[in-house]
Amino acid sequence: MSLLIDNIGSLVTNDPSRGGLLGVIPDAAVVVEDGRVAWVGVGADAPDADERLDAGGRAVLPGFVESHSHLVFAGERAEEFAARMAGQKYAAGGIRSTLAATRAASDAELSANVARLLDEYAKQGTTTVEIKSGYGQSVVDERRSLDVARSQSPFTTLLAAHVTPPEFAGRADDYVAMVVDEMIPACAPLASWIDVFCEQGAFDADQSRAVLTAGQAAGLGVRVHGNQLHQGPGIQLAVELGAASVDHVCHTDDSDIEALAASTTVATLLPAADFSTRNKYPDARRLWDAGVTVALGADCNPGTSYTTSMPFVIALAVRDLHLTPDEAVWAATAGGARALQRDDLGVLRPGATADLVVLDAPSHLHLAYRPGVPMVHAVLKDGVLR
Ligand code: NIG
Ligand code: FE
Repeated sequence: MSLLIDNIGSLVTNDPSRGGLLGVIPDAAVVVEDGRVAWVGVGADAPDADERLDAGGRAVLPGFVESHSHLVFAGERAEEFAARMAGQKYAAGGIRSTLAATRAASDAELSANVARLLDEYAKQGTTTVEIKSGYGQSVVDERRSLDVARSQSPFTTLLAAHVTPPEFAGRADDYVAMVVDEMIPACAPLASWIDVFCEQGAFDADQSRAVLTAGQAAGLGVRVHGNQLHQGPGIQLAVELGAASVDHVCHTDDSDIEALAASTTVATLLPAADFSTRNKYPDARRLWDAGVTVALGADCNPGTSYTTSMPFVIALAVRDLHLTPDEAVWAATAGGARALQRDDLGVLRPGATADLVVLDAPSHLHLAYRPGVPMVHAVLKDGVLR
């Protein structure tokens, strides 16, 4: 069964062969068939299809690709947020309160939380979501976190070293040894990537390297939480290991930017986390201009970024990170797909996955221009209207 979406006022394709960063086609149409894009072009040339969806002059773009989320958790930390807004600093230790709540929750409760948040993401135009574990930090709890995540998304990451759990207090090296010897072998079949929180108060360069290389040896790709709260070794380590992405990247020096620019590692920027922690924003302008591949993510988690809104992230990236609206839209779609190493997502060309957003606006510029305004008219996932 084929579906023609026509009367599109402005279509973002992200197809470089169409010209410009976003490959925008005015007065466009798209045909989707069997979950894939079958045809893209100007409306006047559109072929016939079994069904028709009139976009009414609205803008259409690829669904947002979220490459960084922590959805498997229980409880919330609104009080911690309020304390932060009153002047308290964010520290890695806050993760432990979510750890306790997550360990105490049933699989059904964790599953319902993931489903609720994925629904929020989808309502705001996000069609792909990577999900990390990381609030279990025991073999049993990381395994069941990944089980829950995998039943709802094919993109799962074992965040094996997020924070040292209470039973290993003061013994981070012993925890890392347990991760390497027991957790990774038990959890690797349920994940595509390994991740660590390489940060003061979490895990240092040697501990992070031990976990990441053990993950690689078990067949996992590498992702790193790096340089979020302080200048540190995370970016260099990510590049050294050929990581798919290094995420946050808020505290950088010249050598970090040079290393990223010379690498294939994507810099995934998560400005909603910086917004909610009053952290330093990443120097997105400098990263982009140096030739680094930049992705944007919402980083939904109960501690630093309890939002699922990619439009909000795009608005922040334009207003406060100084990306252009085009760059921000690219980073939230094609950039996220690069971070997940998928060339069929975040792009609308024949053969690509038919994940599309119809905006209640004439162009993608309105995402940043009208912050906070619900703007998603319709979402197609795998060619099907949700
Ligand atoms: O991406 N930085 C580490 N992990 C999360 C925060 C986790 C938490 O505070 O619960 C992040 O910001
Ligand atoms: Fe994170």
